[in-house]
Amino acid sequence: MRKKLPATNNPSPTTKSYSYGRQTIDEDDIQTVAEVLKSDWLTQGPIIQKFEEELNDRFGGNYASAVANGTAGLHLIAIAMGWKKDDIVITSPLTFLASANCAVYVGATPDFADINESTYTIDPSELEWKLKQYAIRNKRVKAVIAVDYAGHPCDWDALRTLQNKYGFQLVNDYCHSPGAEYYNDPHYAPKYADAVNMSFHPVKHITTGEGGAVLSNDKSLDDKIKLLRSHGITKDESILEKNDGPWYYEMHSVGFNYRLTDFQCALGISQLKKIDIFLSRRREIANYYDKYFEKDDRFIIPAVADNCKHAYHLYPLQIKFDELNISKKKFFDLMKKKNIHLQVHYVPVHLQPYYQNNFGFKSGDFPIAEIFYEREFSIPIYPNITDDDLIYITGAFTETLNRMK
Ligand SMILES: Cc1ncc(COP(=O)(O)O)c(C=O)c1O
Repeated sequence: MRKKLPATNNPSPTTKSYSYGRQTIDEDDIQTVAEVLKSDWLTQGPIIQKFEEELNDRFGGNYASAVANGTAGLHLIAIAMGWKKDDIVITSPLTFLASANCAVYVGATPDFADINESTYTIDPSELEWKLKQYAIRNKRVKAVIAVDYAGHPCDWDALRTLQNKYGFQLVNDYCHSPGAEYYNDPHYAPKYADAVNMSFHPVKHITTGEGGAVLSNDKSLDDKIKLLRSHGITKDESILEKNDGPWYYEMHSVGFNYRLTDFQCALGISQLKKIDIFLSRRREIANYYDKYFEKDDRFIIPAVADNCKHAYHLYPLQIKFDELNISKKKFFDLMKKKNIHLQVHYVPVHLQPYYQNNFGFKSGDFPIAEIFYEREFSIPIYPNITDDDLIYITGAFTETLNRMK
C-alpha cells in the first residue's frame, strides 16, 4: 500500500488553489536541513558529495556534479564539451528555453528538429533530415540535446544510431524525467547520453529550492564541470603547476560560482528518500486522468511507448480547441475562476522573438510542436493532490468545455 503523504489541513477542493506542479516538503525535510544549518559547513562541505553519490545510485552514471540550477548545468556542459562559435547544436523546439540558450551562451548556433506526434520528444527522422541537410553543406552538427519531455524518455536507441552515423555529442536534458524507465532501466539516462542534466526546482520530482546536477560516465568531463562550477579554481596537488604551500590555489579556466550549498544538498538527500512514493502518486494521478479523459474525443491524452515508463513531471493534456472552435484563452480564464491555474509547456522556442530575430526561425518551421502548443495545457499533477481534488479538477474540465459549446 502507498505510504501516506503528509496531511494538509484538508480544505475542500473548491476553496483550494491548484497549479500544474508544486513541491512536497515534510517535517523530515525540515529537520534534515536544520541539522546542516547548525553544522560547520553551509557550503563546500561533505553533504554535497553524499548527494552526488546518491544521485548516481538512483539515476545511474559514475560521476555527478551538483550545481546551482539546471540552467547552470547546461551552461557548464556546453563549455566542458567544447562547444564554440559557429558550432551547431540541435534540440527540441518543445522545451524550456535553457535547453537552447546554453548553445547561445557559448556562441554556438542553435537549431531544432520537430517532435514526434505521439511521444512529444525529438523525432529521430526529423533530426536525421536536419543532419543530412547540414552534411550536404559540409557542416557537422556538434551536439544534440534531447529532452525527455514531461517525463517520457526519448527514442534513445534511434538517437544513438544517429550519433554513431553522424558523430555528434549527445546530451539528455533530463529535468523532467528522474524516475522514468527505458526498457525497465531507471539508470538509462547516462548510459545513452554523454551528459545528463537535472533540475531540482520546486515543481520537479525532487527539490532543493533551486538546484541542479550533471551526471555522466566521463571522469574528464566531470572534472571540468567541478572546476568550472567553482571559478575554475583548483587546489588538487596532482594538477597544480607549482605549489607555494597549503594555502595555494590556481585558476585553470574561467569558471563561475555555480555551486549548490550543503543545506540544499541535505534537502535533496531527504527528498530522494521519498522519490518512489512521489513517483507512484504521480502515476496514480496520471492513470486517473487517462481513464477520465480517454472517454471523450475532445481530449488527447499523453501516450506512453511500450518500452518506456513515464515519470509524469507534467501531464500534458491536449484539447482540440481548433476543431471545437473554442478559445484556449477563454477556457484558461474560466478554469482560473475555478482556482485551477493551468500552464502551457511550452511556447515553442523557435517562436520566441529572440530566436526569430537572431536566428531567422519563423512560424511554420516546426508544425508538430506548433499544433501541440495550440492544444496543450499542463494540468495539476503533484503528490499531494487528493482523490477528491481529482474529481473536482476533471469535473471542472468537462463542465467548462460543455459550457463553452
Ligand atoms: C527541460 C528543462 N531544461 C532546463 C531547465 C532549467 O532548470 P532550472 O530552472 O533549474 O535552471 C528546466 C527547468 O524548468 C527544464 O524544464
